[in-house]
Amino acid sequence: MSKTATELKAEILRLTREYSALTHQNNRPGYEKNQIARPKFVPGQTVVPYAGRVFSEDEVEAAVSATLDFWLTLGPEGDAFEAELAKFLKVKKSILVNSGSSANLVAISSLTSAKLGERQLKPGDEVITVAAGFPTTVAPILQNHLVPVFIDNDPVTLNGRVDQLEAAYVPGKTKAVMMAHTLGNPFELAAVTEFCKKHNLWLIEDNCDALGCRYDGQLTGTFGDLSTQSFYPPHHLTMGEGGAVNVIRDMKLKVLVESFRDWGRDCWCASGKDNTCNKRFGWKLGELPEGYDHKYIYSHLGYNLKPLDPQAAIGRKQLDKLPDFIQARMDNWTTLRTGLADLEEFFEFHLPTHATGWSPKGFTWDSTGHKTECSWFGFMMLVKPTAPFSRRDFVRGLDAAKIGNRMLFGGNLLRQPAFVTLKQQQPDAFRVIGDLKGADRIMNESVFVGTYPGLTPEMLGYMIETMHTLVKKS
Ligand SMILES: Cc1ncc(COP(=O)(O)O)c(C=O)c1O
Repeated sequence: MSKTATELKAEILRLTREYSALTHQNNRPGYEKNQIARPKFVPGQTVVPYAGRVFSEDEVEAAVSATLDFWLTLGPEGDAFEAELAKFLKVKKSILVNSGSSANLVAISSLTSAKLGERQLKPGDEVITVAAGFPTTVAPILQNHLVPVFIDNDPVTLNGRVDQLEAAYVPGKTKAVMMAHTLGNPFELAAVTEFCKKHNLWLIEDNCDALGCRYDGQLTGTFGDLSTQSFYPPHHLTMGEGGAVNVIRDMKLKVLVESFRDWGRDCWCASGKDNTCNKRFGWKLGELPEGYDHKYIYSHLGYNLKPLDPQAAIGRKQLDKLPDFIQARMDNWTTLRTGLADLEEFFEFHLPTHATGWSPKGFTWDSTGHKTECSWFGFMMLVKPTAPFSRRDFVRGLDAAKIGNRMLFGGNLLRQPAFVTLKQQQPDAFRVIGDLKGADRIMNESVFVGTYPGLTPEMLGYMIETMHTLVKKS
């Protein structure tokens, strides 16, 4: 007798799990006790990535299942993921997009909507941001004809120097702050939220590298007006490509974010639905004839930045693992920090915002009373100028030993070709506060290695041992 579709699907999914269990052993969480099937770790030969996809049969099954259903465009899995992420973060709404860069673009674009009245961001308005970091935290500011105003980074926390905020502020011009919780380290949210409140500014938290980090016990990405996530593989959870905009409190922003994501449309019907507003043919907007189909009315110059539904299906399985992933990043950082404690002569190690020092007993904290908990995106260190080796020697040594390493993304972004050209062609396109010495130090001296949940105890031990060998050789 021939099989039913349900029976066939169940068989395909059973085989999918079997296949994945055989072929994806290297992608399993490194903290799993049972690593029997993982290929043996060979020091110097096995690559120790700085980051990567960590998943099990669950994600592969979810992807195949959603693909067999063939809904394809954002649909039931997307709705469920959005609800689950919003619940995790305790925000009003999470809206999926196809990358963290798209999330940043959509977030700031939504604040340019005329529907915001007096609070609309208009061309020439200034947005305070940070010099060293990832380029697409900043590019969307310029793409919206706004003026980024760069403050410096603290080279040890990597975050924006909040003591420069008032110097960056220009009454009537400054309208928003948009910056990242760098590498899983929350920026000084107490000072930044107070500053934004005092001057009635929008706050967008780029939370792409910091899902699961906390400031005074509260998750980052839940303090401002909007926040953003990336689900590209090195991030705290992945769906291949992907991202989200979180609407933290004000649901008025939800419709604007969705509009910019979905072609700029005025209609807010979910995909495949009609007439949610109950007056599909009853609107009179712009100079269109009365009753023009609301589905094709555009109140913004938007984009189409939606991911696919199978991506969301993968993301849902990753969300189940997220608490363990968050903890693994913290544990891996502590293992590395403890193992490298005797190398302080050569390296200045990353510190959480508000921490003043680290010892095997834990962190010491500044007098503000604020504390941070970091689910680290990476283990960052600055090679001290007094070290008998250069940052370049050190990263070459790591590379030769097959230990993945990265610099802090674009370093001081203003030294990137794109910004040098912009400055030449449009000198007023951005403003800079101070000399950006911190951003330059990050660019010149910093390197980070992995903390991601795929690292096994053997890999962490090898990283520590290799760094000692490299330092001794110098
Ligand atoms: C702070 C920050 N913002 C935004 C992004 C962009 O995310 P995506 O690569 O998903 O576009 C990244 C990328 O890693 C990032 O580190």
